[in-house]
Amino acid sequence: MIVAAILAGGSGVRMGNPDKPKQYYQLGTKPVLAHTIDKFCAHGQFDVVLVLCPETWLQQTRDLIERYCPEYSNGVHVAAGGQSRTDTVLKAIEWVDIHCEVEDDSIIVTHDAVRPFVSLRIISDNIEAAERFGACDTVIPATDTIVASENAATISEIPDRRNLYQGQTPQSFKLAKLKEVLLSLSDAEKEILTDACKAFVLRGEPVELVKGDIANFKITYPHDMRVAHAMLGVDEC
Ligand code: CTP
Repeated sequence: MIVAAILAGGSGVRMGNPDKPKQYYQLGTKPVLAHTIDKFCAHGQFDVVLVLCPETWLQQTRDLIERYCPEYSNGVHVAAGGQSRTDTVLKAIEWVDIHCEVEDDSIIVTHDAVRPFVSLRIISDNIEAAERFGACDTVIPATDTIVASENAATISEIPDRRNLYQGQTPQSFKLAKLKEVLLSLSDAEKEILTDACKAFVLRGEPVELVKGDIANFKITYPHDMRVAHAMLGVDEC
């Protein structure tokens, strides 16, 4: 079984509109989240597509799917996410455990709802890498020099850029292994973890790299919405 977990449980504080998380912003003809759902449904290899959203947005999310993704609306499920991104991934695992027949080799592809420009090639490469390797992360080579500072005032290290990558999503896993690794985390570890691959690294588990794409960027700040509109060739409303 192959499951897509679209992570839409965030609040988008950095976007600056506390009333509406950025995954619900209009991007051309439909909301950001609808673009992302379309990609996973159109891919055709998923047995289950699950959207995790804020508890207070459950009904709006169902309505959004019915309105903007009507051809897929029966096959897309909606559940509440968690407090942190890692909690949202855990909620996805919980939902799948309750509602699906999980097999030993079941795969889960987790993706940020706010990366609507993910390509079908990236999704396919994730499925293949997770099946072969057990865990994978989508990355692109770092373009800027990365400067580390322990005190936010002076440089402590400038790592060799040739060994540095920027993490994107999807991140994909054998479902059983992901569950084992995430459930082994202490509350303190969960606090510092923003993504599941880091949990694998923390436990000494190998994670394969999948080639991402600069277009698969995360919408975080208002500027990113302007870039997203420009990529679609439409005006921002
Ligand atoms: N996410 C989630 N559950 C959370 C937090 C984040 O599913 N509790 C999702 C977001 O909806 C987004 C992705 O993880 O699709 C990346 O989140 P990010 O942009 O880093 O965080 P947000 O909470 O959305 O935004 P901000 O940090 O600006 O508040």
